[in-house]
Amino acid sequence: MNTLSLDRILQSQGFGTRKYCRELIAEGNVTIAGQVVTDYRSKFATDRLQFTLFDTEWMYREHLYIVLNKPTGFECSRKPSHHPGVLTLLPEQFAWRDVQPVGRLDHDTTGLLLMSDDGAFIHAQSSPRRHVAKVYVATTHSPVNAALVAALLAGVRLHDEPESLRAVTCRQIGEYQLEIVLEQGKYHQVKRMLAAAGNHCAGLRRVAIGGLELDALGLDEGEWCHLDAAQMALLTANAVEA
Ligand code: URA
Repeated sequence: MNTLSLDRILQSQGFGTRKYCRELIAEGNVTIAGQVVTDYRSKFATDRLQFTLFDTEWMYREHLYIVLNKPTGFECSRKPSHHPGVLTLLPEQFAWRDVQPVGRLDHDTTGLLLMSDDGAFIHAQSSPRRHVAKVYVATTHSPVNAALVAALLAGVRLHDEPESLRAVTCRQIGEYQLEIVLEQGKYHQVKRMLAAAGNHCAGLRRVAIGGLELDALGLDEGEWCHLDAAQMALLTANAVEA
């Protein structure tokens, strides 16, 4: 079992430099099991350790695995330029832990976004070799028809792509709506595929990744949660190299 001093614990969770965390502790801001702990050298087993800082309760997590229901108007890039970044939707200390989006959604795309500070997890979920299925609901400018669905399933050529890209599955779900499943994550892929097939994307929402469905999580737009063990197992099982 891993045991760490309290200053290291707070630092590892993103609450600041070791010096700052020592100050927080000395000033009596940290409580463990109902006791204020003022000695930063006090050691604790980190597994499922609960602590309170400034009256907010936290659990020690070696890594963060998060799912966010992304609203429109937020950028996934590390240095957002025109809109706030998605990290502003999470507690501040998560950014200090270098949490990053797993792949990117456009600023105007909504829905399921995984985020983590675990490089191996980010790589496994975003590697093109793992063929993780991503399910999108696209709203179109012109009505959906059978020819559009057939073209997306057959594959379309995109500028700068050496090979045509096709949907794994695609089905019409409304007069102006289709569900499209992709295994790659190319830049603006759904929008560019729809344009190449003769229609245009008016709205885009990602509703599932690797078997994890956004609706089942009960998150409103802008809300997030930690992934639990069963959800992690589902994602891991769906991200095996083909
Ligand atoms: N495809 C797009 O065009 N945009 C996204 O945000 C995701 C997939």
